[in-house]
Order: sequence, then C-alpha cells, then structure tokens
Amino acid sequence: MKPRVLVTRALPEAGLRELRERCDVTVFSAERQPTRAELLELLPSCDGLLCTLMDAVDDELIAVAPNLKAISNYAVGYDNIDVSAATRRGLPVTNTPGVLTVATAEMAWALMMAVTRRIVEGDHYVRDGRWTGWSPMMLLGMELAGKTLGIVGCGRIGLAVAKRAKAFEMQVLYTNRRRLDEATETEYGLQYAALDDLLAASDVVSLHLPYAQDSHHLIDRDKLHRMKPTAYLINTARGAVVDEAALAAALKEGRIAGAGLDVFEREPAVHPDLLGLDNVVLAPHLGSATLETRTKMAEMAAVNLARVLHGEHPLSLVNP
Ligand code: DGY
Repeated sequence: MKPRVLVTRALPEAGLRELRERCDVTVFSAERQPTRAELLELLPSCDGLLCTLMDAVDDELIAVAPNLKAISNYAVGYDNIDVSAATRRGLPVTNTPGVLTVATAEMAWALMMAVTRRIVEGDHYVRDGRWTGWSPMMLLGMELAGKTLGIVGCGRIGLAVAKRAKAFEMQVLYTNRRRLDEATETEYGLQYAALDDLLAASDVVSLHLPYAQDSHHLIDRDKLHRMKPTAYLINTARGAVVDEAALAAALKEGRIAGAGLDVFEREPAVHPDLLGLDNVVLAPHLGSATLETRTKMAEMAAVNLARVLHGEHPLSLVNP
C-alpha cells in the first residue's frame, strides 16, 4: 500500500509528479489552508505531511499523528515547525533551500527600487489624478549608485543580493553569524562589519537571516536609531526579526527614510501603524512567488517527502 500523504495547499502540479507516483496524495485545498481543528482531524491517518509556512506544526499536532513519518515544509524557513518536538519523535523534517534564492533576492531588489524611487507613491499619485505634469521637485528619491548596502545574514540569499549590488555600483557591507572566507568576500566584493557598525554606515539595510529565538526583534528601537535618517530597511526574511511597532514609529518620526517589507510578524495581519505610512512599501510575502520558483519548490518538497517515506535520503534535512 502506498503511504498516505496530506498536502495542505494546492501547489504547481508539475512539481508533484514523483509524489503522486509513489504516494497516495490528498491535497487539502487550493483556496485556503486547513484550520488547526482540520489538521488535528486529518493528521492521525497520514504517513506524511507536506505543509506551508502558514501551518503551525507543533508538539500537539505531532502527538495526534502516530503514523506520521515525515514532515516536508514548502519553504526554506521552517520556524513554523517545532523541529525539536519532531526530532524527539524521530520525525525527519525537510525544507527547500537553494531553489528560491534568486526569486527572493530579486524581491529584495524590487522592494529596494520601489521604496527608494517612490514607485508605489507615484502610482497612487497618477491613479488619484493628482499628477499635473512633470515637476522638478516631485517625488524625489534616492539613487543607489555609490551608496552602501548592508546585508544582515549572508547565506545563499544574502550572497545573491550582494552579487546584484555590483551591477548597481554599490559598496556592500555584511554581517553574519560566521565571517565568510576571504575568497568569497573578494568574489562578491563584501566587507565584513559588526551589526551596529553596518547599521550606522549603510544607506540600505537588507535582512536575510532566519528567524530563531536569537533573531526575535533583532531590529528593535535601539537598532533603528543607529541607522542613518536617510537610510532604508528591506525585509524579505521573517517579520518577527523586526519590532514592527518600533519600525512604524521610526518611519513616522523620520528616524529612517523608508522601508520595504515582504514579511510580517503576524501574517496576514500587518501592524496598523504601518498601513497609514507613505514611506513604506508593503508586499504580501511574495519573495518566492514566481511560477518557476514555486514549481521548483513543489518538486523539492515532494521529492523530499517521497524519499523519506520510502526509506531514502531526502534532498534537504533540517533536524540537527
Ligand atoms: C521561505 O521559503 O521561507 C519563503 O519565505 C517562502 O516564500
């Protein structure tokens, strides 16, 4: 008998081929994620779970599923899963690193361009009929060439952002848990800096670190006050890395010039103070949202799950 697998959301079908061949697949829904009550009801009969970052897979959920043998996350970040609880149960947890690197780096650049060149403000200006013609002082932004980009967290995505900074003629500072080797620093034109120094020197700060206890509200009031009043903050990592109330206050008081945010602490809720500000561009967690990338993520998540359920090595395991 084929292992029974629950996929919590409809994913690009092309990516699911191997999983469908090797497992008995139920896709919960295209329109919405399962509620907690629905997951508690469905999981006990499953051998495998393919979930998204919207599904909180915790101790209680794992405990009601005695047959569960693998959890495959459709994301590179896995802070929605209690990996320690899964590990205690001997459950492999897998994720999708690598395949969404370029899409997420491009999103960081899209936000950087949008907020520094006031594109969303300009769009509203035109649609609202407020534009009366070309004007020398209208909606002036900041040029990126010659400026300093500070990358916080320099793994795959941080490096992909740095690589693109060369074409924009920017200097790049980075900070990372571990300093990168000299060859990588030279190849990407990177200069290492401690976080506070990076914040003080950068014109744009872009966050690319995973969410964990030690990165909770890493960018708080104190850190925001270290940034230049002309600087911009970009977050395509995880919302809870930033204290959103402190960020809204900093944006309102002009402590920093602007922000581009793709992620939020309590998605899909956005801090109400951010919603009323013109100097922030808000996106609904679109970092990996290209058809190419979402298909590759589906393929990787599906292969991971099928392999573990058949006693083979997955492409990417996150348990320690
Ligand atoms: C991830 O994979 O962690 C991304 O946030 C999904 O877009």
